[in-house]
Amino acid sequence: MKILLTGGAGYIGSHIAVELCNQGYEVIIGDNFSNSKPEVLNKINTIVGKEIEFHEIDFTNKEATFELFEKSNIDAVIHLAGLKAVGESCIMPIEYYRNNIVSTLNIAEAMKKYDVRNLVFSSSATVYGVPKELPLKEGMPTSCTNPYGWTKLMNEQILTDISKANPSFSVVLLRYFNPIGAHESGLIGEDPNGIPNNLMPYITRVAKGVLPELNIFGNDYPTKDGTGVRDYIHVVDLAKGHVDAIKFVETHAGIEIFNLGTGVGYSVLDIVKTFSKVNNIEIPYQIVGRRDGDVAECYADPSKAKEELGWIATKSLEDMCRDSWNFAKNN
Ligand code: UD1
Repeated sequence: MKILLTGGAGYIGSHIAVELCNQGYEVIIGDNFSNSKPEVLNKINTIVGKEIEFHEIDFTNKEATFELFEKSNIDAVIHLAGLKAVGESCIMPIEYYRNNIVSTLNIAEAMKKYDVRNLVFSSSATVYGVPKELPLKEGMPTSCTNPYGWTKLMNEQILTDISKANPSFSVVLLRYFNPIGAHESGLIGEDPNGIPNNLMPYITRVAKGVLPELNIFGNDYPTKDGTGVRDYIHVVDLAKGHVDAIKFVETHAGIEIFNLGTGVGYSVLDIVKTFSKVNNIEIPYQIVGRRDGDVAECYADPSKAKEELGWIATKSLEDMCRDSWNFAKNN
């Protein structure tokens, strides 16, 4: 089976490419390097021991998207390409809506034209908005607080409508919780441009001495130690969930949503302490005010993915902290 992986040079996409190859799938990566680097492709090739087909493409370009489908005999699509920074999306909403929505429309239209029926879409737990009840289940109400989140929720709605109108389509929407960690080889991992927004890349830069200390955004939340609680998931577990989702779309029609999380919440201080312990590095930190838009706690009920995809996260927080550092210290 030939899978088109949009955004396949990115942090999550590169790990999915590796897991698909490990399970015998043929992979075509399409990426415009808007938030990734061409070297990643060589690293993926080194890990899997062969050269993966690559196309430099912007999926907001309809002609280029159709051309790729025309010449490539694609059986299924995993669509990850998109802009993903919450703060930036509030400053550049037009770019976020255009990029994240138009690319999905182009891909769906090309799928229809070239009779490609299987799609796995990269969504986010951000669509649950401010949780009223925990753990989060797929049927709970959705809402968003920023344009990035809205593009995820709107794409979910678009794909739901398309799948209703085209009953032979099979779509899986995967709602990611907080992916961290890296491939055990240390060759691929998360390497954002500029000062990181997310916790783990910030911690690894403090560990390297590039940034002086971590700012912890609030210690007065109603959580066990007052700091924010999230469901951190190892990126390799997350990638394996996509392979299981591909197996699912091959044998089902319609649309299904699955949470990909561990079901366990850890606080910011849990992450700092575990990172320090497993890597034997002190992480200096200070407590600062809450960050706008943050919620106290967010964690998944991942039981639907277990029952229907046969997927479960297997890696521990120690694995996540060790692998994040193993990648960061070499890159
Ligand atoms: C964030 C986004 C979410 C997006 C996800 C992508 C917001 C509000 N949410 O999730 O929409 O899908 O990234 O990966 O931006 N923290 C610190 N100091 C830091 C960085 C983070 O204390 O320098 C804390 C945060 O307050 C939070 C936790 O660490 O409690 C995790 O933060 P982060 O890694 O940014 O992820 P989310 O905010 O959960």
